[in-house]
Amino acid sequence: MQRRHFISLAAAGLAGCAITAPQPSSQEADGAVRRIAFGSCIDQTKPQPIWDTVLADKPDLFIFGGDNVYASDQPWSAAKLAQAYALQDEVPGLVRLRETVPHMAIWDDHDYGLNDGGAEFGHKNGSKAAFLRFWQIPPGDPRRAREGLYYSAMFGKEGKRVQVILLDTRWFRSALKPSDERGKPGKERYLPDADPAKTMLGEAQWGWLKEQLRQPAELRLLVSGVQVVVEGHGWERWGNFPLERQRLYRLIADTQAQGVVFLSGDRHIGALYREATGTPYPFYELTSSGITHPWRDAVEAGPNRLGELFTQQHYGVVDIDWSAATIRLALKDIRGAVQRSQLIRFNELKAK
Ligand SMILES: [Fe+2]
Repeated sequence: MQRRHFISLAAAGLAGCAITAPQPSSQEADGAVRRIAFGSCIDQTKPQPIWDTVLADKPDLFIFGGDNVYASDQPWSAAKLAQAYALQDEVPGLVRLRETVPHMAIWDDHDYGLNDGGAEFGHKNGSKAAFLRFWQIPPGDPRRAREGLYYSAMFGKEGKRVQVILLDTRWFRSALKPSDERGKPGKERYLPDADPAKTMLGEAQWGWLKEQLRQPAELRLLVSGVQVVVEGHGWERWGNFPLERQRLYRLIADTQAQGVVFLSGDRHIGALYREATGTPYPFYELTSSGITHPWRDAVEAGPNRLGELFTQQHYGVVDIDWSAATIRLALKDIRGAVQRSQLIRFNELKAK
């Protein structure tokens, strides 16, 4: 197969990373990012017509939020993962997006290699090598020299800075506490575990995240495969480790990091959430997890969800209006129609 050269990000340090040429059409001379699209759960064996819609939306940046291929059947093998990536590399719309739109990627359990997997997965070095190859992570990139795949980049100049922080919620994650009533609403697979020894990010990534949150930025997209603020279900979520989620909220408060919005995937649904309890300011979350195979009959309690689940194929969009100082989070369907949206004012996203 001929090796293609996809657009990647210049990885020159943590702050001040630039988007590489060619410049997307909606991005203006000030280098500010205005439209970021986001999606996850991309089964390489299924049709992917949505890419034409995403391309027509002309995002300045696309974030692949995990499950970017499915290769988690056991026994895991490097050959099966390579085959999955090879199939994905032949999807015309996805190839065109990767050739024309700057993009970033983090994995989730199915490209990591084990359904709902964490630190215990024995082949993570093999799946990381395949990830680095497929996503053409350049030599010298910090991800090559440390464990896991967490990463961040900054776009735009002072006053219009967007920081994208990709969290690795697989590599270091402790074992989850299994449900005592598997399948029961609210306890579908896992129970909250307040064991202080359990970790979601691991100490190295926690330390790194603290440094990222200290970087000045107007908007920060914290990308986590696993849902963050969501309540009301017993699938994977940060609430599986309530102390770790408290630690995250406290870290954002202590670093005085303004402008945090969460993006998540994993669930095969689309939804918007808002949490204002135990947070320094309201935390909004956009879950977009339905590029190829949404969970069409999903039903769940949504105590902090904004509106209903969206259970058809979709992608997420973050539109930034710098002059109006607003952000709009949206879920768009396969025709590009907005199905759910939430307008946020920048000045909501800071401690009062
Ligand atoms: Fe998935």
